[in-house]
Amino acid sequence: MKYVVVSGGVISGIGKGVIASSTGLLFKTMGLKATSIKIDPYMNIDAGTMSPLEHGEVFVLNDGGEVDLDLGNYERYLNVTLTRDHNITTGKVYKQVIEKERRGDYLGKTVQIVPHLTNAIQDWIEKVAHIPVDGDNEVPDVCIIELGGTVGDIESAPFVEALRQFQFRVGPENFALIHVSLVPVIHGEKKTKPTQAAIKDLRSLGLTPDIIACRCSEELDQAAIDKISMFCHVGPNQVLGVHDVNSTYHVPLLLHDQKLMEFFSKRFKLDELKLSSERIAKGQDLWTRWNSITQSHDRSFQKVTIALVGKYTNLQDSYISVVKALEHSALRCELKLEIVWVEASDLEIESSVTNKINYHKAWGSLCSADGILVPGGFGTRGTEGMIAAARWARENLVPYLGICLGFQVGVIDYARHVLNMKTNSIELDETIEDPVIVYMPEVDKINMGGTMRLGIRPAVFQESTENSVLRRLYGSAPTVMERHRHRYEVNPEHIDELEKSGLHFVAKDEKAERMEVFELKNHPYFVGTQYHPEYLSRVLDPSKPLLGLVAAAGGKLESILAATVDHHSDQAKGPVTDF
Ligand SMILES: *[C@@H]1O[C@H](CO)[C@@H](O)[C@H](O)[C@H]1NC(C)=O
Ligand SMILES: *[C@@H]1O[C@H](CO)[C@@H](O)[C@H](O)[C@H]1NC(C)=O
Ligand SMILES: *[C@@H]1O[C@H](CO)[C@@H](O)[C@H](O)[C@H]1NC(C)=O
Repeated sequence: MKYVVVSGGVISGIGKGVIASSTGLLFKTMGLKATSIKIDPYMNIDAGTMSPLEHGEVFVLNDGGEVDLDLGNYERYLNVTLTRDHNITTGKVYKQVIEKERRGDYLGKTVQIVPHLTNAIQDWIEKVAHIPVDGDNEVPDVCIIELGGTVGDIESAPFVEALRQFQFRVGPENFALIHVSLVPVIHGEKKTKPTQAAIKDLRSLGLTPDIIACRCSEELDQAAIDKISMFCHVGPNQVLGVHDVNSTYHVPLLLHDQKLMEFFSKRFKLDELKLSSERIAKGQDLWTRWNSITQSHDRSFQKVTIALVGKYTNLQDSYISVVKALEHSALRCELKLEIVWVEASDLEIESSVTNKINYHKAWGSLCSADGILVPGGFGTRGTEGMIAAARWARENLVPYLGICLGFQVGVIDYARHVLNMKTNSIELDETIEDPVIVYMPEVDKINMGGTMRLGIRPAVFQESTENSVLRRLYGSAPTVMERHRHRYEVNPEHIDELEKSGLHFVAKDEKAERMEVFELKNHPYFVGTQYHPEYLSRVLDPSKPLLGLVAAAGGKLESILAATVDHHSDQAKGPVTDF
């Protein structure tokens, strides 16, 4: 096992995650199996209870683990399936050490940060790095470890010390460090001092950089590279410039051009690994496909606008997986994606009085979008606006995708405006007499934490849904596995009425009791999913419901469907909206 640690100096939030996942991707293009671990120097134990306003989105894993967005980044780039143990936090390690101490595992010895905590960290890393993540049972060859925060913080000190020891535990030929730094441009001049200081800090803690990746708004010139090389005691080939490029998907190309893999081949003696020719061919194929989508992205000029109707539109990080899945879909459709953020509450009728300008602006954006997406979310604020957005899309034949809460508001709109019911979701109005969205029976109403339907579960396509657009996008699969995170569902009492009036529940759970997907007849694309398809989207394998939305919005649904490999039947399919 080779370990590559990616740490950061100077300031946080400069794209350490993208550099780390791009490095992992490059290892994969050489035929290696890559995995990753994120270390977060926080005391929290899991992200489920953390506010999306402060931390951005909660990302859900197959195992139901609620983590933050960085693990999503690795899953998307490396096409791997991670577990909740792939996220190490200070809180988790302390908890483990304290539990061991309580059990008497330390035989009454004094328990200390060094060595007990630092050993626990190293054991955790070694254990998790060996978990197969590729859907087969093979142990990965390389593990990318992203160390959150900046080196030198109090918070990360135990982890830095653990990693310092770890390089000797696994041997120097199996351990490398990429340090991400910042080269600010001030009055047109690139300043290398912050990088020099950061590397000095790093060395004083016993870690030696193998690669210094310099984030810079401009391309790094040879003079700057030479200067950093000189003052930081590394060769010029160990200094990489990572300037702002067209998209984050171009970062692997940038690192590749600067011969990152040639460095690692020598450093890790990769030719001694003797990979099978099949693995090498697979890696090459990945590289070819990655190159071709990024290049076609540069060449595509046809635009597609998607209105994202949400609640935290001031904090766009809360929808990062949805945005990424839209990007993957646009790459596949060769369209330039433009996302218009629409604050749901601005669409509500009250805003036309209290907040006229925003009201008209919001409706203007919604009406001019090619497609509308209402993503998941919690709480009541803005939901009437979301219902209005779903109604607009339904009545005006604008492609619509509702995810989780967006699925539920689609159902509410239909019940209200097609079935003329006076209804709502019990989540949004506790006093409503005839709710069309209810608590799931297994959910504990009082104890909010940990009572959701979480993680990967099947959605089973129902009989005679062969011509469902979504099912065809999934390659006509009879069952799809997707990740869930919800505590409300469609009221079983109203399903018959809804179906009879045309809202077709094409997929349900394995007992056919819980509604998973709706699709509307006689509409170009009106789809809702109770599950969160965005969590399983991959750069080269976009999530199908989102792909359908982008394709329908960009006028490419027919060609995408035609290109979809049908794994499950070879029957001729009817026109798209007829099933
Ligand atoms: C890991 O868990 C901690 C604690 O909940 C959280 O703060 C952090 O954001 C998580 N990180 C990842 C990458 O999931
Ligand atoms: C991603 O990995 C899965 C196996 O886990 C594989 O079936 C699929 O083809 C991979 N996708 C891409 C785009 O490589
Ligand atoms: C960025 O995109 C433009 C066109 O959109 C293209 O001409 C240019 O070559 C791209 N740059 C890189 C570094 O790929």
